[in-house]
Amino acid sequence: MDIMKEVVNLCKNRGIIFQNSQIYGGLASTWDYGPLGVELKNNIKKVWWKFFIHNREDMVGLDSAILMHPRVWEASGHVKNFHDPLVDCKKCKERFRADHLIENILGISTAGMKNEELNQIIQNNQNIKCPTCGAKDFTTIRFFNLMFKTYQGPVEEAANIVYLRPETAQGIFINFKSVLNSSRKKIPFGVGQIGKAFRNEITPGNFIFRTREFEQMEIEYFVEPGTEMEHLEHWVDYSMKFFTKILGIKDENLRKREHSKDELAHYSNRTIDIEYKFPFGWGELEGIASRTDFDLSNHSQHSNEDLIYFDEKKNKKYIPYVVEPSFGVDRTLLTVLVDAYTVEKLQDGTERVVLKLAPYIAPIQVAVFPLKKNEPRIVEVAKKILKSLIGDFNVIYDDTASIGKLYRRQDEIGTPYCITVDFQSLEDNTVTVRNRDTMKQERVSINSLKEFFTKSFSINLDI
Ligand code: GAP
Repeated sequence: MDIMKEVVNLCKNRGIIFQNSQIYGGLASTWDYGPLGVELKNNIKKVWWKFFIHNREDMVGLDSAILMHPRVWEASGHVKNFHDPLVDCKKCKERFRADHLIENILGISTAGMKNEELNQIIQNNQNIKCPTCGAKDFTTIRFFNLMFKTYQGPVEEAANIVYLRPETAQGIFINFKSVLNSSRKKIPFGVGQIGKAFRNEITPGNFIFRTREFEQMEIEYFVEPGTEMEHLEHWVDYSMKFFTKILGIKDENLRKREHSKDELAHYSNRTIDIEYKFPFGWGELEGIASRTDFDLSNHSQHSNEDLIYFDEKKNKKYIPYVVEPSFGVDRTLLTVLVDAYTVEKLQDGTERVVLKLAPYIAPIQVAVFPLKKNEPRIVEVAKKILKSLIGDFNVIYDDTASIGKLYRRQDEIGTPYCITVDFQSLEDNTVTVRNRDTMKQERVSINSLKEFFTKSFSINLDI
């Protein structure tokens, strides 16, 4: 079974993710989240915020602007260093990332390879041909900056260039002093934020895995120089707990991968990625980087602000070091979908598709069905239940098919519970509550439904 294809189809058919600008033929690698997708995405962001910000005394949040002063990106090194090596096929003019071309065709890692080495492999290895037209006629490697440029104000000239941020992190660094002074936090402490980032990727793909517009959930954790490695290890463990215990991702589909020296980003002295085993291979889900004092030092030098911290307890001044756990929202959502996608053989020989999502991130939490849609007394009770749960839970009402079909529809989108109102409900004020995973049904008093679901959807953050 091609899981990726199944998941993409499910997303399209059930309103989770749509091709962007579809009525105009689509904009490549750009996706829109539909009615169910936006719920799932918001729930992922909500539990992330709960676990990483509210659950810790050493964390605060921020929501900085996408557009920043262009000098931010000079100080951060992005104008100079944030580029990918690309080659063009001279015959069909298709453009490729040189490292991806080698990795995809030869199945070897290019981590740490210098430009010349990449060039030599592309020019000399007979197996490296254009994936589009089959020609073996590539340009030499050129570098391509990934930042999207635009102009602020009506005049399109160099002085007015601004960039769409390629990472949310810099918004945190430039607010370091303001957050510190207003929140009165003491080191070690961190700032988290969730927001859009943009990269003019040469080879986006694999559905929402690599896109040009995406969302990040990032933390910059400020520490005393010399203590960064112990903090880095803590954040790797804490992140693993988030994926396995909070989001319910299977352990065996996750791994940690340490960056080799040559692979490290220009700002990092150590980075560990958490990777997921996607149907198309292992891929980065989160990067946890030790960023040293690279960013704060550079902003100190280039701006009007001295980003030095005074440690009152130790009576010393220093520029803090930074540990950065950086997550992609869209990649996390793809991971959650792929990991939860299950096809089960039932006793009667049929199959059911079920998304085994953690209950509190499911797009719809409870579905209410009347056993008979033309029995007014049953409908009345079902509508009353709907009304009593709306506001506390994301609930829907459906009477457009048989109960068996309605269950299947909800299984497919991961709805943890379905309520059926039947004739017995009219007599004893109970309903059946059907569990998505076990398919078991239990009778629950209508009066205690709220309590039942509050318990079922609570998150255990104490892990
Ligand atoms: N501030 C550090 C930073 O941005 P990164 O490894 O380039 O580091 C962090 O990105 C995370 O953002 C990745 O682990 C991934 O989840 C997500 N991400 C990066 N580029 C992406 C893209 N083009 N499409 C979707 N998600 C992306």
